[in-house]
This record gives sequence, structure tokens and C-alpha cells, in this order.
Amino acid sequence: MLGLFGRDVAIDLGTANTLVFVKRHGIVLSEPSVVAIDTKTDRVVAVGSTAKRMLGRTPENIVAMRPLKDGVIADFEVTEKMLRYFIHKVQPRRRPFRSLVGPRVVVCVPSGVTGVELRAVKEATEAAGARQAFTIEEPLAAAIGAGMPVTEAQGNMIVDIGGGTSEVAVISLGGIVTKSSIRIAGDDIDEAITSYIQKEYKLTIGSQTAEQLKMELGSAFPLEEEESAEIRGRDLVTGLPKTVVITSEEIREAISIPVDAIVTAVRDTLDRTPPELASDVVDQGMVLAGGGALLRHLDERIRRETGIPVHIADEPLMCVAIGSGRYLEEIDSYRGSLPSV
Ligand SMILES: Nc1ncnc2c1ncn2[C@@H]1O[C@H](COP(=O)(O)OP(=O)(O)OP(=O)(O)O)[C@@H](O)[C@H]1O
Ligand SMILES: [Mg+2]
Repeated sequence: MLGLFGRDVAIDLGTANTLVFVKRHGIVLSEPSVVAIDTKTDRVVAVGSTAKRMLGRTPENIVAMRPLKDGVIADFEVTEKMLRYFIHKVQPRRRPFRSLVGPRVVVCVPSGVTGVELRAVKEATEAAGARQAFTIEEPLAAAIGAGMPVTEAQGNMIVDIGGGTSEVAVISLGGIVTKSSIRIAGDDIDEAITSYIQKEYKLTIGSQTAEQLKMELGSAFPLEEEESAEIRGRDLVTGLPKTVVITSEEIREAISIPVDAIVTAVRDTLDRTPPELASDVVDQGMVLAGGGALLRHLDERIRRETGIPVHIADEPLMCVAIGSGRYLEEIDSYRGSLPSV
């Protein structure tokens, strides 16, 4: 009987990265959410890190693309293809998944999604071979994955900064009490770097160079010792490759608008949090998750602006997947008590 059913999985379908958690195995896959497609045959050429390396480097008949934008599906068919590939990849070998009953799949969605966006996620998951699709709100998954006691009568504040969305939530008794979900996150920080360099140095850089600069040089608060790095791009005027030196102060200035927006979302959420829960947050502090939590000194910046302790989750990039996985493992006991959004 067991072989009839696919392995149940939980998927953190992110704008930047997709992680897959298999029941009783944990996270078995973590890949960039990028798909490369041959436009002549409509076939998938590559998915994940191989496809990400192709971004901006493809010949005419191949397009490498990210099917999600701002945390939601931007291209339905490509998302379905990507999901199918990932769900299939984690199924046991020598058990042809297609011919059996599909697995149950939990997918997380940003807390700010519309009904249409939510339906698109469920439909894409079912079209990709799931026999049943469940959804869980990302901040709740992130908080569970970060090990916060979300089911207690206590204010648990989580800030999840991904590639496409930043979500802030205060959770108590298993539910979200106050939240902010803004479509400003890592991608916007990368874009801010690209446009700064274009404006100040008349230099065009690719999205991967911008992301690398953010990771190496980016910060949200002054560093003890400021740094600098050489970057290569194409001169807008001559069209030739050019190298310039850029400092961490410049990058901080370049990214200040999206970073300020994220800090403001944190303050807004606190402002709207009922006093008892807010006082718990003051005691316990908030937890930062998502890849954006790794932006240097973002914790320090938020601490200074809110006066509240800030912790970075142990595995910020994995919290949502771990939390959705726990939800998957408990789904039978949760059902009825926790709404499937
Ligand atoms: N060291 C770092 N410093 C700054 N940003 C980082 C670092 N490492 C990763 N990131 C950024 O984190 C983002 C990816 O985070 P994550 O995987 O949590 O997003 P996601 O879940 O795919 O997106 P979303 O939840 O918005 O759909 C990217 O924008 C990436 O550039
Ligand atoms: Mg995410």
C-alpha cells in the first residue's frame, strides 16, 4: 500500500529559493527558483542552480527565468513545471511517481496574498502532481521553524525577509494577531544597487553581481571598519567592460530606501500590536528569518530603532521550510484546529 502514495512534502516556494522538506527526512533539496526553458520545444533545460548560472547568459532559444515575483506566482506554467520537477526529484527511485497516487503537499504563501494568488498556488501544486495541496502562511511557518512557542498565549514576533516579500507578524495561540506584508525585500535591495551604480558610475551590472555586492559589502548600519571592492560591468557610454572600486558606505546609501521600508514595516507592526503582546515582545525580543536577515547589521539597526532585542534565527534561510515541514508532519492532528489559510 505504502508504495502507492507519493512521499508527502512541504515546499517553501520562494521568490529566490525553493526548499523541499520530506516527512521524516527533513530538508532534502534547496535550489534557486529559476527555470531555463528552450523556447523552440517548450522543454525545461535546467532547474535550480544550473538554471541560475544561465540567467543573463543564454542564447536566443533559451530563456532562464524566475517564475515568482514578489512572493507570488508570476508565470503559472513555469511555476508548475518547476514544482513538478522538485516534487518528482524527491520521490524514491524506482517508483515511477507519475503512475502512482500523488503525494500531499504543503506550500507556504505570503500572508498578504489575494484569493486569486492563493488559488493559483494550489492549482499549480495540484497540476504538478500533488493529490492534495495545503497552504500555510509564511510568517507562521517561519516562526515554527525558528522554534518559537507559537501555540502559547504569548506574543511571538517574527520578521521574514525574503527575495520578494518582507513579512512581519506577531503570533499568539497559533494565529497571526498583527502583521505587515510588504513586497519590498532582497530583490529590491539588489535593484537599488544596480541603479545606484548605473547612476553614479554609468556602469551596467548584472543581477547576480548586484546580489553578490549586497552580500559582500552591504549593511544596514555603519560597520566597525568600512570596506571596498572592485566591480566589473559594462560602461554605458563606451559599451566596453570597465572596473570601478565601490565602498560599503556607498552600498549602504544605495540600499537605504528598501532597507528603511523594511524597518518601517517592523515599527508599524509593533505600533498596532495589543499592549499585552507587545510587552511579551519587549521581553522576548523578535526573531529575524529569511535570507535578508543575513544583511549585515540589520539586527543592530532594528534594535536601535525599536529598542527591542533582536535575534537572528539559527538557519534563517531554512526556517520557513522547517516550519512547513513540522506542519506537514502534524497535519492530521492540526486539521480542524488550524485553518489551511
Ligand atoms: N548574506 C546575505 N546578505 C544579504 N542578503 C542575503 C544574504 N544571503 C541571502 N540573501 C538574500 O536573501 C534573499 C533570499 O532569501 P530567501 O531564500 O529567504 O527568499 P525567498 O524565500 O526565496 O523569497 P520570498 O520569501 O520573498 O518569496 C535573496 O534576496 C538573497 O540575495
Ligand atoms: Mg521566503
